[in-house]
Amino acid sequence: MIFDSLVSAVGNTPLVRLRSLEPKGVEIHAKLEWFNPGGSVKDRAGLQIVREALESGKLRGRTLIDSTSGNTGIAYAWIGAALGVPVALVMPENVSEARKRIARAFGAQIIFSDPLETSDGAIRLARKMVRDEPDRWFYADQYSNEANPRAHELGTAREIWEQTEGRVTHAVLGIGTGGTVMGTGRGLRARNPRVQIIALEPAEPMHGLEGLKHMPSSIVPAIYQEAELDRKLSIETDAGWDMAERLIRDEGLLAGHSAGAAAEGALQVARELDKGVVVTLFPDRADRYIASP
Ligand SMILES: Cc1ncc(COP(=O)(O)O)c(C=O)c1O
Repeated sequence: MIFDSLVSAVGNTPLVRLRSLEPKGVEIHAKLEWFNPGGSVKDRAGLQIVREALESGKLRGRTLIDSTSGNTGIAYAWIGAALGVPVALVMPENVSEARKRIARAFGAQIIFSDPLETSDGAIRLARKMVRDEPDRWFYADQYSNEANPRAHELGTAREIWEQTEGRVTHAVLGIGTGGTVMGTGRGLRARNPRVQIIALEPAEPMHGLEGLKHMPSSIVPAIYQEAELDRKLSIETDAGWDMAERLIRDEGLLAGHSAGAAAEGALQVARELDKGVVVTLFPDRADRYIASP
């Protein structure tokens, strides 16, 4: 098969069984989102947001701007390069050096926000820039843009359903903006209302699980509707990091920290079951964090 553009290679990521984690009678599978061209799950939301904005004409004469702690920025940056859309990214100054360089290499403009204000500071700065010059920017706003969960409702959920041949019983998914868990949850429930949707968040406000959001201490994204979840689990930073190491050693999966947290959450759910098919999702790969402290 020949792709007309790299954007056609977004999605359809492999679902891999994690046998070394499985309690008796329960299957655990992980969707490896680093197989997306930009190296993370955020390619899905980025592409859906850009596509819908192009179709509606909202990008005409404007630069796409958004706040992002990294992966979404890389997604916008490469997709912008591939589709000829100018991109500006607002990010906390302390995001990993590798991410800044990759985004710049694709030609994206980078604007830094105060690292002490974490991702909420980047959101506030992006909002202010759009308020000040509304004609200059198209505010992609991954935290409020329904195209973000829609990417997962149309893509991730359908893929999980097809890959498990409709056997999935539990989906265990981390919360960043909430796009993955909301959209995947909706898409799976539309096919089987009994599928349990379980969200994962860091146990503490200050944590080392980059990409995950601690909801009680954050600006709650408009796309995040907690009432749609069956459950929310808290994951300790150490447990996520230890699990990432275990996945690397025992499964040959170069899992990032939030992927470790995802597997830890999936394992906690699986341990409570006698029978079931638990599906989780690994947002990105560890090499994105190798330069991090
Ligand atoms: C690194 C990383 N990127 C993205 C996501 C998913 O984020 P969202 O909720 O925005 O779909 C997560 C959540 O686990 C993550 O850890």
